[in-house]
Amino acid sequence: MMSPTYSPGRTTDHTTGRAAAHSTDGVTLDDLFDRRLEFPDMGASRRFTRLVGIDEAKSRLTKLLGILVNPAGPKAWAARHHPGASLLLDYVERRPPLVILAGDVGTGKTELAETVGDAVARQEDIAVTLFPLSLATRGSGKVGEMTRLLSAAFDSTLEAAARLQRSSGKAAGAVILLVDEADALTQSRESGQMHHEDRAGVNAFIRGVDRLAEKRVPAAVIMCTNRLSAIDPAVQRRAADIFDFRRPNDVQRRAVITAPLGEAGFTTNDIDNVVQLTGSQKPGEVGFTFSDLTQRLLPTLVLDAYPDRPITFARTVQLIRGMKPTPAFRDDV
Ligand SMILES: Nc1ncnc2c1ncn2[C@@H]1O[C@H](COP(=O)(O)OP(=O)(O)O)[C@@H](O)[C@H]1O
Ligand SMILES: [Mg+2]
Repeated sequence: MMSPTYSPGRTTDHTTGRAAAHSTDGVTLDDLFDRRLEFPDMGASRRFTRLVGIDEAKSRLTKLLGILVNPAGPKAWAARHHPGASLLLDYVERRPPLVILAGDVGTGKTELAETVGDAVARQEDIAVTLFPLSLATRGSGKVGEMTRLLSAAFDSTLEAAARLQRSSGKAAGAVILLVDEADALTQSRESGQMHHEDRAGVNAFIRGVDRLAEKRVPAAVIMCTNRLSAIDPAVQRRAADIFDFRRPNDVQRRAVITAPLGEAGFTTNDIDNVVQLTGSQKPGEVGFTFSDLTQRLLPTLVLDAYPDRPITFARTVQLIRGMKPTPAFRDDV
């Protein structure tokens, strides 16, 4: 289901198995970023398309990033619909190049952040490069490590984006810096140590975002977190937008399962039942996440039936009853 050349195949956010390569000095691009990805890319396009039930977030994020890399776009829009609307445009152009995707686990934050570059590339007809920086597998906690890492990441992003900048209108390309699992930015605060280092990391991040904004380079930062409250308020304030990701509701669960279970011959009534059984079963209990459906339930149905039985509704009900939804990621611990 994934592109053969780019297959994250993660089961949780923490099992990407990246090499934790970092030297004390002379950090190279390869040390900083994993799997830099160029868009447009067919694999990313498919993954983006497969994210269902979050169309609003998809289109809002694509537009926001598109405007950052192509300020000529809104100008052309204004000329057509609101000639002379310079104040309106100014407010749009001054938005900081940072968006935060926050919310429960398995709700598509990483998937959207990793693939939205493709939608931007297609919409603006430019090349977009993703620089994914994973804080979880880096920054071992040595004093100064996080700061150095972040500064180097922003330096590289700035440098790459500056090369794509054009004096007027549309850039030749764009760079997206992805800071996934950004809770790690403030990790040290929770462990009660290195308060100072923690602050320094946050400051390096803020400085980085501000530099990208000042230089007006075609670059944007996407930050993902399971816990918005772990993100420093000063960082949150800089976000042009904060997207709130939640567990799928009935409509969204239906959107995920209808096509695949339809392939297995499920009737509308069967699907209604699966939607109900994968939702919250009691007040206060969570239902299935998107990834519980796509990475656990659907593969389980296939493997259970394989190799000599078909998937049946009755067996599906049993299997669902035996599965527990991923516990909610509590934002208050
Ligand atoms: N809106 C969605 N529609 C379909 N599948 C989804 C959706 N959101 C998440 N998924 C599935 O869940 C998996 C995990 O999503 P991910 O983006 O890693 O979650 P997180 O929010 O924890 O970063 C994805 O690879 C995808 O298969
Ligand atoms: Mg994630």
